[in-house]
Amino acid sequence: MKLHQTISHIAEQAFEQAGLSGNPVVLQAAKNPDFGDFQINGVMGAAKKLKQNPRDLALQVAEILKQNDIFAAVEVAGAGFINLRLSPEFLAQSLSGCLKFEPNQSPKTIVIDYSSPNLAKEMHVGHLRSSIIGDSLARVFDQLGHTVIRQNHVGDWGTQFGMLIAYMLEQQQENANFELADLEQFYRNAKIRFDEDEQFAQKARDYVVKLQGGDEAVLALWAQFVALSLQHAEEVYAKLGLLLTRDDVAGESKYNADLNNVINELSEMGLAVDDDGAKVVFLDEFKNKEGEPAAFIVQKQGGGFLYATTDLACMRYRVGSLKADRLIYVVDTRQDLHFKQLFAASRKAGWLPENVQAEFIGFGMVLGKDGKPFKTRDGGTVKLIDLLNESAERAANLVREKNPDLSAEQIAQIAETVGVGAVKYADLSKNRSSDYVFDWENMLSFEGNTAPYLQYAYTRVQSVFKKAGDWQVQAACILKEPLEQQLALELLKFEDVVNSVADTCYPHYLATYLYGLATLFSRFYEACPILKAEGDVRDSRLQLANHTAQVLHKGLNLLGIKVLDVM
Ligand code: ARG
Repeated sequence: MKLHQTISHIAEQAFEQAGLSGNPVVLQAAKNPDFGDFQINGVMGAAKKLKQNPRDLALQVAEILKQNDIFAAVEVAGAGFINLRLSPEFLAQSLSGCLKFEPNQSPKTIVIDYSSPNLAKEMHVGHLRSSIIGDSLARVFDQLGHTVIRQNHVGDWGTQFGMLIAYMLEQQQENANFELADLEQFYRNAKIRFDEDEQFAQKARDYVVKLQGGDEAVLALWAQFVALSLQHAEEVYAKLGLLLTRDDVAGESKYNADLNNVINELSEMGLAVDDDGAKVVFLDEFKNKEGEPAAFIVQKQGGGFLYATTDLACMRYRVGSLKADRLIYVVDTRQDLHFKQLFAASRKAGWLPENVQAEFIGFGMVLGKDGKPFKTRDGGTVKLIDLLNESAERAANLVREKNPDLSAEQIAQIAETVGVGAVKYADLSKNRSSDYVFDWENMLSFEGNTAPYLQYAYTRVQSVFKKAGDWQVQAACILKEPLEQQLALELLKFEDVVNSVADTCYPHYLATYLYGLATLFSRFYEACPILKAEGDVRDSRLQLANHTAQVLHKGLNLLGIKVLDVM
């Protein structure tokens, strides 16, 4: 249920009755539960506009609100705040709807670009962020009834592929059973060959020309390389449990045939102009230090196309063919300017109409404990697959310590879920705009805002049910204790929180909420015995526990994190 909206409506009606219609009610969750559950802050603003006494006005609004039995208490505080406390009866009645999402009145087609690694190289931690933030957002939009189109804009085009194909061919000739085991090493070796052997380098350059000319034999080799490299990415995707599939791959190469048109049309519109042999779009809205408009380069000197050209063609495809209402790009924050310019140029060209929203969802860097970009001990890039395997290994040690009776097989399975969950959650629980420090001890801790803590909280509730035996699933809730009421209130905020993630593309709001919920549950669990209670109270508390488990399960699922019944 949309709790915030429900109460907002009631407040708006009261404003209307008090002669304040049109003034925003400004409803907020209370900061301190001692004063209530929500606070209306809009009376002061309205009073100022109407030149009335804010306290008197607040008292009037409060009188009206008091007539609604959804509230147990309505109090005016300070200069004209109104504190609201929901009635336990309302909370109890609403609780069964805490997981029922309201039908979406304005579903959108949302195209979300995420993961999008360069296929010439191994995926690194930057792609971890894009992959899991994007995947979580895709889940959230889907949950809210939007049509979600996932686009994996892989880097599968460009001059480096000539060198890689040449090297792949050479390796295949030397070894019929050639496998692309280590992409990073493969790239390095190819580069060495390119630098040391002129004949090899010439071959690589020939391949580039043929590739761009559409030579079928070379295209087939290229496709072979791309497929091999994609398999690497997919190994990581499978481990991470991403929703991305092969069908979602729409890489740079897809737009190749349209790049000439893009330049021609931009030139015809007078948007792309010659600048020192290159073609650029001047954007007045981005001035440099000298006050000159920034140049968005769309074609290099000599005619080569760029990342920007591809993204322009891609924009036309997403808006024109995919019919996007909202475009989301989950990419490293360092590409902020590129996207700002891309959006501005696309708007000018009419390829991104006013009614289509385009958002750059940037994220910060993953840092090591030394505060520098996260690297292996010898300074190399950290391969994602190694990172996830290490996390599972570390988790296995912890699980074994915690629960020595489990079989080796059980430990391995739990460790995989905990290990991968820990890495994902450590990322998703942080404000994506900032850098964060990758810290094994923190992320794998069973205490604090971590995946293991939340997964364990879920497991604990499950174990209550194992011991509970029969209970009345349909039993009415009776919320007498303050902690019972607080827990119910928190559960009812779930849909609001999911909506706030969709609006802002900040998955950490959901993580913070789930952590708060799990902590509240454990306070409730300490203060209000479940299994030792009797009759209606026992059923009611089981009901609360049941809803908590379901919200934790669903919430973690929206973050792409699995739960366990035993751990
Ligand atoms: N392949 C790029 C990189 O690794 C990210 C692509 C993001 N998407 C886009 N449409 N430009 O940096």
